[in-house]
Amino acid sequence: MIQRPIARISGLGVAVPSGIRTNADWEAALDTSDQWIVERTGIRERRWAGPEDTVASLSKTAADLALEQAGIGPMDLGGIILGTATPDRLLPSTACDLQALLGAENAAAFDIAAACPGWLYSLTVAEGLIAAGQAEHILVVGAEKLSTITDETDRSTAILFGDGAGATVISAYRNEANGGILSTFIRSDGRLASLLYRPGGGSTRPFSQEVLDDRSHFMKMAGREVFKAAVRAMTQACDEAIQRAGVAAEDIDLMVPHQANIRIIEATAKHTGMPMDKVMVNIDRFGNTSAASIPLAFDQAINEGRLERGMLILLVTFGAGFTWGSSVVRW
Ligand SMILES: CC(C)(COP(=O)(O)OP(=O)(O)OC[C@H]1O[C@@H](n2cnc3c(N)ncnc32)[C@H](O)[C@@H]1OP(=O)(O)O)[C@@H](O)C(=O)NCCC(=O)NCCS
Repeated sequence: MIQRPIARISGLGVAVPSGIRTNADWEAALDTSDQWIVERTGIRERRWAGPEDTVASLSKTAADLALEQAGIGPMDLGGIILGTATPDRLLPSTACDLQALLGAENAAAFDIAAACPGWLYSLTVAEGLIAAGQAEHILVVGAEKLSTITDETDRSTAILFGDGAGATVISAYRNEANGGILSTFIRSDGRLASLLYRPGGGSTRPFSQEVLDDRSHFMKMAGREVFKAAVRAMTQACDEAIQRAGVAAEDIDLMVPHQANIRIIEATAKHTGMPMDKVMVNIDRFGNTSAASIPLAFDQAINEGRLERGMLILLVTFGAGFTWGSSVVRW
């Protein structure tokens, strides 16, 4: 009998720009305060890329670490899937630029446009390719330079976002004892696209002086509506991933949620029945880094010694589209 391979996270690495933007920096630039930002979002500082940082260069640094941890080289990769809302160029994909930087000529490289769930969507695609026997190792990256699409004059969005990259190697295993991805769940609702979007710069409104003048190349967001939808969708996603994995909420050892707002995380955890001491939070250091968010939090959980082999991890995310998703992983 042919046994379907099990996909497992075999390596993880992250990279963030050295530039830091604190709440005090935003206080100096906008009509806002450290107290408002901390109370309403949980954010204290975020990483801010300089011109020397590209999505591909941050991804390369993260990928080198992930490959080393997985014990493989770039030529062992059968795929590179990169979730991003801020590709370095509109054509070709940033995944292809990353492929060239890595020297991973055996891989098929492509981007996934799923906003904040970009890494989890990419993980889901990679898992499917591995289960179908298409590749033994796939690099799954979530990387963003949101500073380039953030309107620095809009206090309701500017303070939320930051830059960074996380890379994971997803590998095929044939022995369940090694753990692996037990379930994945992804969904979208495009009817709500205009609640969080970039109106200009695409092919309906290509770049022009007008686009720049009306600042429509920056993100626009209806924060309160996004907040409510995020809690609703992330709660559904937690239930789905747990059910699909055939485990109970009480069995989950650690939840690693997308870091968009501490209040969204707390509300999702409460609905799912997860006490906050089982929830990984690092929004204070990085803000919302979109597709990089879960790998950055995952990495910090490992560095803090919060993960042991065999533990059950619940990953959950939400973003523009709207898109959302979840996964249960045995570490
Ligand atoms: C953006 C967000 C933090 C705003 O918090 P909120 O509690 O919903 O606040 P509101 O938008 O209702 O605004 C409340 C007041 O604070 C003001 N405000 C907004 N941003 C502010 C800031 N940076 N500093 C000070 N005041 C601010 C508003 O103008 C409003 O003032 P008003 O009452 O005089 O009109 C919150 O809605 C949020 O996190 N939404 C989800 C965002 C998100 O996660 N997006 C990405 C999805 S992946």
